[in-house]
Amino acid sequence: MGADHVTEPGIPVPGRVLVSAKDLENRVAELGARITADYEGKSPLLVGVLKGAFMFMSDLARAIDLPVELDFMAVSSYGHSTRSSGVVRIVKDLDLDLADRDVIVVEDIVDSGLTLNYLRENLLGRNPASLEVCALLVHEDHKLDEKILKYEGFRIPPEFVVGYGLDVAQKYRNLSDIRVVEN
Ligand code: IMP
Ligand code: MG
Repeated sequence: MGADHVTEPGIPVPGRVLVSAKDLENRVAELGARITADYEGKSPLLVGVLKGAFMFMSDLARAIDLPVELDFMAVSSYGHSTRSSGVVRIVKDLDLDLADRDVIVVEDIVDSGLTLNYLRENLLGRNPASLEVCALLVHEDHKLDEKILKYEGFRIPPEFVVGYGLDVAQKYRNLSDIRVVEN
């Protein structure tokens, strides 16, 4: 998608590129190689958090040279604010059983960390053999325990970003790079 991406009245406009498509590609390849090495001999189950993680999940899965399985869940924070409320509702649950599986949660972005914290607790209750997190982007001022972020793509300043799966008002998920939105 080009820089002249069509915008709509009232919806913030994607501005400066924060992470280029090339940098995304390189980093996803590195993460895939690390996961491949760390899970040698295993068949990890990637749990993608819809919708934001769909593009990252698709590229990451192809960068892992193991017989992975994929599943998805959809969560929604109550309300439509750009800030997470910490109250998370499961809109679509997983199809697969997590018992005794090596689970890797694939997230688009950790902002406050409230969503991921809730998800982790929920998924740990399903008795996986192991559970790690792979987040493409992490806002620098997140409130999560650092130990939780085993795999992460880029640490970014606390700005609202879109592209490569991330949206504002459901728009711009199809940008190939990550851009800062301008109000
Ligand atoms: P948290 O619970 O505050 O960590 O928020 C996490 C969720 O909020 C992410 O999974 C995204 O869906 C959304 N989100 C947070 N920051 C951004 C952003 O900069 N752009 C787009 N979505 C975001
Ligand atoms: Mg999300």
